[in-house]
Amino acid sequence: MIQAVAWKNDCLEMLDQTQLPSATVYLQLRQIEEVFEAIQKLRVRGAPAIGITAAYGLYLGIRDAALNSREEFFQVLEEKIRCLASARPTAVNLFWALQEIKNKLERLTELGPAELKTHALRLAKELHEDDCDRCARMAAHGQEVVPNNARILTHCNTGALATGGIGTALGVIYQAHMAGKKVQVYADETRPVLQGARLTMWELSVAQIPGQLVCDSMAAALMQQKKVDLVIVGADRISADGSVANKIGTYNLAITARYHNVPFYVAAPLSTFDLTISHGSQIPIETRDEDEVRRVFDKSLITLPEAKCWNPAFDVTPPELITGIITERGIIYPPYPETIRAHFHESQ
Ligand code: MRU
Repeated sequence: MIQAVAWKNDCLEMLDQTQLPSATVYLQLRQIEEVFEAIQKLRVRGAPAIGITAAYGLYLGIRDAALNSREEFFQVLEEKIRCLASARPTAVNLFWALQEIKNKLERLTELGPAELKTHALRLAKELHEDDCDRCARMAAHGQEVVPNNARILTHCNTGALATGGIGTALGVIYQAHMAGKKVQVYADETRPVLQGARLTMWELSVAQIPGQLVCDSMAAALMQQKKVDLVIVGADRISADGSVANKIGTYNLAITARYHNVPFYVAAPLSTFDLTISHGSQIPIETRDEDEVRRVFDKSLITLPEAKCWNPAFDVTPPELITGIITERGIIYPPYPETIRAHFHESQ
């Protein structure tokens, strides 16, 4: 299976997603600064994959530090967490993963700094495996909403490249295909940085799942012509009211799907929920470099060099447009604030 990141030979091996699909280049990262740069430059992206990468990055940040006491250990750990947490603001999995590692290390009250370092790596590996497991369970639950011969529209990239396993939304699609269902996927190109065109189309081709690329602006016409049975997308952060922050363009899709009576599903692990945020409008949205809009993926300039651009990387889809949220525990249906709370309660 495709792996976005792997711990190999004492370093973090990462498939550089900025070079796909033209080249399959693996990077070996040994320093926290390299991990920070990789997250910021989208060499690794997708909410769960960012969290896993940060967990390994945290270990790389403390591995060679001279730490003589527990106090010193946790002081440096906190510094490294602050550094990694500033790489990107929207995907809550980044903060969740770092906090998980810290909480678990704090509970190892008997250990000194050298042993804590060893445990930091163990915990990063466990977090990685745990995400793989969550993906598999999400994919299994998702089958409930994917009929045979389904024509599915998806946005951005939510597969193996975006997670520690088979993916979130794309994981549901992989599972349908593996179970012998016939599926036809429409992948939105996902401007400005083309995760759909570059990454989802590549994953579909590797898995031999029939896929067709469409420009983001084509979704409405596609639905009007009754070519879409359902939409499945991923999420970067879901607030307590069921609002979903995901790649810019997701909200357009949700509105379009509602108008055409097409079910709109979100697939996300519980690690993507942020119940400290009560309303979607409070989710921090990353604004990226204007050049991503001015150019087609760092290459051709498509407008005036001085053209002003607006480049929010994510938008927020309100809960009333979401048919259901597929998690590793099952599918959550409206009314969201209540059902989300109950879903978390069940999972304790
Ligand atoms: O900017 P990106 O490529 O990190 O954005 C990724 C997405 O928006 C995905 O849809 C989301 O992280 C869910 S991936 C499992």
